Amino acid sequence: MTDKLIIEGKSKLEGVIDVKGSKNAATPIIAATLLTSSPCILDNVPLVGDVEKMLEIVKKLGAEVDFIEKRKVKITAKNISPEKLDFDMINKMRSSILFIGPLLARFGTVRIPQPGGCIIGSRPIDFHINAFSKMGITIEEFGLKKNGSRSSNVYHFNAPKGVKGKEVVFDGFSVTGTENVMMAATLAKGKTTIKIAATEPHVQDLALFLKKMGANIKGEGTSTIEIKGRKELTGAEHFICYDYIEAGTLIILAVATKGSVCIENAPVENLKLLLNKLKSSGAKLKIGKSSVVVSPGKKLVIDRVQAMPYPGIPTDLQAPIGVLSTQAEGLTLIHDPIFEGRLKYLEELNKMGAEIVICDPHRAIINGPTKLHGGKLDPLDLRAGAAIIIAGLVADGTTVIRDVTQADRGYEEIDKRLCKIGARIKRINR
Ligand code: EPU
Repeated sequence: MTDKLIIEGKSKLEGVIDVKGSKNAATPIIAATLLTSSPCILDNVPLVGDVEKMLEIVKKLGAEVDFIEKRKVKITAKNISPEKLDFDMINKMRSSILFIGPLLARFGTVRIPQPGGCIIGSRPIDFHINAFSKMGITIEEFGLKKNGSRSSNVYHFNAPKGVKGKEVVFDGFSVTGTENVMMAATLAKGKTTIKIAATEPHVQDLALFLKKMGANIKGEGTSTIEIKGRKELTGAEHFICYDYIEAGTLIILAVATKGSVCIENAPVENLKLLLNKLKSSGAKLKIGKSSVVVSPGKKLVIDRVQAMPYPGIPTDLQAPIGVLSTQAEGLTLIHDPIFEGRLKYLEELNKMGAEIVICDPHRAIINGPTKLHGGKLDPLDLRAGAAIIIAGLVADGTTVIRDVTQADRGYEEIDKRLCKIGARIKRINR
């Protein structure tokens, strides 16, 4: 059963909205709890679809998962078995790739199908495979027969003598690649050095949690991370960092709708480039220590935006910025070199009256400002899901999002929270 959203546009948004915990920190940290048989307690866990699925997979592996409070969960992975990995669930989400590192480190073996997830490009896993093969792990790939046909690949990662600490040089910045190797290296024999390591805040939050578990890690937040393997890790308690992607999305939403909104628990230190870009484009922002107050601005001129690895403007904010660009003066060039399938939401915006030319899979030119009108839309990925909600709030008339699963994967009760600041959004359970 999927829910749909009915959005009435052009409401005046006013009030305070707070940012929840980071989905992209919570997912690797849930996987990391498998590195120990002792209990781990995670607080500020966002109650979103991807996190619920990760917890479900962990439960099916045999872990005890108990919510102590609404967003505080205790995970005890004492009696888990890697062979209990739920292939169907793994097939549905990209984050499930994060189980490889911890399960290999603890058990020396794991069988896992090619992880699924957002339709934002080919999303290969060669960085993970190359890194693990450097660390003494053999990898076999075979087709999984489903109803008589070969439908997906299954990988068998095997380290009978344990994971070996080595130097791993990635071919490009990879968030989950860095996280996977970091987790595997915590229990490896010897020292692992990761070069071209991703530096995103969620990678740093994972490192912080691993250190609380007793891991010996240096250099997180820089492009070289060193990990000295330990014999075992202990349980730990951790408060998941606030989500800089959700914060950025809400700030852009407030600017696009010309609202008067205070975004609280915003990790402003992690959003410097976005905030500079918005300010220099004409947005009216008052930036506090952990909050951003948006007031209605006048003319907006964005000109160009390029998505980049951290500390650049993240690809996960490219789609909300695309919507904002339809309200800016003149031409805006959007360039997202990271994934080749992340401009598809622009076709939906064109259906709403935007003037956008998609030049190639990575670049588009948006002419603005345009009046958007409502429509019936089907966002294909999580960040497009948020972008279409913003578009619906900006547009004249009614916008129907026929399946809100994508936005629900990463934004907790987004409709309810936006209604509290004046949005008119109805959720219908079909
Ligand atoms: N890449 C490869 N080979 C690999 C892995 C990555 O070529 O083995 C390439 C990708 O094709 C892409 C680039 O490297 O061009 C970066 O991909 P990365 O590995 O960083 O992506 P990811 O780890 O799969 C995470 C987030 C994404 C976010 C990207 C970029 C999680 C669970 N996912 O994905 O978040 O867009 O980093 O920052 O942390 C989302 O939250 O909606 C989402 C998709």
